[in-house]
Amino acid sequence: MKDTITKESLKPSTERSNRSGRTTSGTEPTTSAGTATETGATQTRATQTRTTSQSRTTATDDPSEIPSASLLSRADEVLLPVYARPDVLFVWGQGSTLTSADGAEYLDFTSGIAVNAFGHGSGIVERAVASVSGLIHVSNLYHTAPAIELADELVSRSFADKVFFANSGAEAVEAAIKLARLHAGNKERREILSFEGAFHGRTFGALAATDKEQIKAPFRPLPEAFRRLPMGSIEALEEIGPRTAGVLVEPIQGESGIRVAPAEWLQALRKRCTETGALLIFDEIQCGLGRTGTLWAHEASGVEPDLMTLAKPLAAGLPIGAVLATDRASKHVTPGCHGSTFGGGPVVCRAGVEVVRRASSPELLAEVRRKGMVLRDALRGTPGVTEVRGRGLMVGARCSVPAAAVVRAAFDQNFLLVPAGDDVVRFLPPLVVTDGEIEEAVRRFRNAIERAEQGAEQ
Ligand SMILES: Cc1ncc(COP(=O)(O)O)c(C=O)c1O
Repeated sequence: MKDTITKESLKPSTERSNRSGRTTSGTEPTTSAGTATETGATQTRATQTRTTSQSRTTATDDPSEIPSASLLSRADEVLLPVYARPDVLFVWGQGSTLTSADGAEYLDFTSGIAVNAFGHGSGIVERAVASVSGLIHVSNLYHTAPAIELADELVSRSFADKVFFANSGAEAVEAAIKLARLHAGNKERREILSFEGAFHGRTFGALAATDKEQIKAPFRPLPEAFRRLPMGSIEALEEIGPRTAGVLVEPIQGESGIRVAPAEWLQALRKRCTETGALLIFDEIQCGLGRTGTLWAHEASGVEPDLMTLAKPLAAGLPIGAVLATDRASKHVTPGCHGSTFGGGPVVCRAGVEVVRRASSPELLAEVRRKGMVLRDALRGTPGVTEVRGRGLMVGARCSVPAAAVVRAAFDQNFLLVPAGDDVVRFLPPLVVTDGEIEEAVRRFRNAIERAEQGAEQ
């Protein structure tokens, strides 16, 4: 079984071993918009390398000295094959551009699946490390300033009164499920409801709430008392009742195809949860923190949850998860009922403070809305696109050919995208993406979809 899916399904039509120059179409791998830095200036590859070399501590950190071919051949021997990855080794990133060991530049519209909101090389992590360098870890036995500061930022900018820090999205979801059960108190009220198309993570509780049979089947039996309802159906909300501890929902579903939950349905959901005493939990792990053009995706509906999970962009690429809770939803929490060794550490929280402040900027959010419109309008006019969905810079293009084929063809154009379901391609550029990069992305996407269509006809 070893490595067959990985190599064959993702191998691009061009020769992967020499990607230093051009793609088959003759497209220059460098983004035509240049490599935008945060200040809007452009950097050449040479200056980028020089800049990193200055901060590197060992000679082997220099991209030109990384033995990429031998490392890639070793990858399949030493890494569990849970991901199907192409044979490329990324060594450097700046803004919306990733550079591979052989010097090819890729326009990155995945942002590490909605993690790198401020682009590669934003400096946020470096500043965080520098600011707490004498205090990397002290455990949750004691207080440190960054965790309190980050919780304060989150609380003062949201519906919430309290925050718990974890290390990933799935862990944040687990904590939210536990909080809902703790709030319910009574063993009869233990059901967690989620919705068709939901993705909440891969740990056992989060997986039980996820609606993707393919990733659940090998691990059954999963925790019981999890059930899914159709998303968008007002009648189905009648299923929420005295046995329901919590209702978990993504205001915009990411993995299953950028499906926006209608505002009136979210309002009805809020009402039903309040009537029945179930906690409403918004999973904003992918759609939160400015991605949709408002700080929180749920703002567009006017509805506030009792609990909310965050993760991906919150610490600019460092692992973090968070659950935000109202006082009412967390009233039964006592010392020892939940915890985490690494959660809320000084470095990640200091990075989080800068992310939350920057993601809250009205200017940035207005730009996310504007650029999202530019991207969606351009995609709407693209042959082979049957529907464009999403809000802000969380965009899905439904295609007439399988999404995986389009993503592979885009990769051949040095353009990184990620599928969301069978026929939707997801666009998650950094929130600081430039107009030039959007234009270039649409150009490469058009080529990719055309090639995927040609491939499907053959
Ligand atoms: C909406 C949503 N919830 C939860 C998760 C799980 O997060 P993690 O992969 O950090 O565990 C994801 C990850 O893609 C997600 O998109």
